[in-house]
Amino acid sequence: MSAPFLTEDSTGLDDLSVWPASTARLSQGHLSVGGVSLAGLADRFGTPAYVLDEDEIRARCRIYRAAFPQADVVYAAKAFLSRAMARWIAEEGLGLDVCSAGELELAHAAGFPPERMVLHGNAKTPRDIETALRLGVGRIVVDSPSEIARIAALAGSAGRQKVMVRVVPGVSAGGHEKIRTGTDGQKFGLSLTDGSAQHAIARVLGQAQLELTGLHCHIGSQITDVKPYLVAVRRMVGLMARVRESHGVTFPELDLGGGHGVAYRPGESGLDLTALARRLTAELSESCAAAALPVPRLVIEPGRAIAAPAGVALYRVLAVKHAGPKTFVAVDGGMSDNPRPALYGARYAPRLVGRPAGAESIMATVVGRHCEAGDVLASDVLLPGGVRPGDLLAVPVAGAYQVSMASAYNLVGRPPVVAVHEGTARLLIRRETQEDFRRRDIGA
Ligand code: LLP
Repeated sequence: MSAPFLTEDSTGLDDLSVWPASTARLSQGHLSVGGVSLAGLADRFGTPAYVLDEDEIRARCRIYRAAFPQADVVYAAKAFLSRAMARWIAEEGLGLDVCSAGELELAHAAGFPPERMVLHGNAKTPRDIETALRLGVGRIVVDSPSEIARIAALAGSAGRQKVMVRVVPGVSAGGHEKIRTGTDGQKFGLSLTDGSAQHAIARVLGQAQLELTGLHCHIGSQITDVKPYLVAVRRMVGLMARVRESHGVTFPELDLGGGHGVAYRPGESGLDLTALARRLTAELSESCAAAALPVPRLVIEPGRAIAAPAGVALYRVLAVKHAGPKTFVAVDGGMSDNPRPALYGARYAPRLVGRPAGAESIMATVVGRHCEAGDVLASDVLLPGGVRPGDLLAVPVAGAYQVSMASAYNLVGRPPVVAVHEGTARLLIRRETQEDFRRRDIGA
């Protein structure tokens, strides 16, 4: 038994509001992004494939710089990184948040200026720290007491490394429990409430090799409300005032991390950046004035809000199965290229491209090709009633935390990333092949 039919008008199936601004409807159900037909890209590069709209990335960088003219905007590379991405970010004047020697070295190889990089990580390896010091990263964010002496020792007696201290301000925010990082009882940062932040600050101030430029916090991810950021600002300024009392020190910087939420489906709303900029700036000035502190330079670290809306994932339908009341549309990718639905219950709005949709829609669940029932890409979504093997499905808002979190599960091979720009397509990352798997497997 198949799902009941709905009419397209009532479904919003043709809504492009969460797609890249360059998305255009072509004839016969075709769509283009960055002036390039998605069906043409699928034919040329195969599926699954990730398409990244360079102009959308650049436009989002510019929106941030315009909204926060007085702040340092630092892109969080964990959302998506490639050499081209590092170059675009550098050219747009942003900094880069890296959290491993791997990210750091890739960005460095692309020519990203190390002094504009910030190294994060709750468990930095000796190699992470050594690479950061050797290449000269701008800031290292201290996340645990044991790092302090280690960074100071590796900096050498003549060295002086700029650092920040990551504080847990006790603010709960974020789209899912697994990505809330602003409260005690999770692995990141140093607590304000139990005094470990204050203790770490005192220790850093006692190290001649370390220059403490300010405090950092990152309260969570996929946050769509401004208020938690304002609470975080008040608590951070409160701590800055206590540090001045105890140590006579004021900080030139305050890093409020990222976490800015985006809309994944039509009708959802992301964080309002203009409101965030206005209210953050006001809150920071007022809190600092009340504490008679100089206003520090603001640093923000958006990842998702720059990369996610610029990406589109392309899949080919392999099977359509009616199982009881449910219709499963199985595609050639899955949790190995997008683990977000399995990890966080993330919801997406896939769309049929490359042929006319027809008048009727069904409720379906788009699943992947992996060997487990939790391999779902989009549950309970509306698709054209006639969806069938060979159809092309495109999923918007796919530019963050998908390719960067992709795995080798079932040796399916990670998909390629193709950049589109003014009508041309360019392969940034090639598809992972059997040859790649065979080469790493050296134990036969
Ligand atoms: N700064 C720090 C220190 C972070 O840990 C993160 C993200 C960011 C900035 C950027 O956050 P964004 O603006 O992208 O929300 N895999 C999850 C998200 C994990 C975020 C980890 N940290 C997801 O797919 O939703």
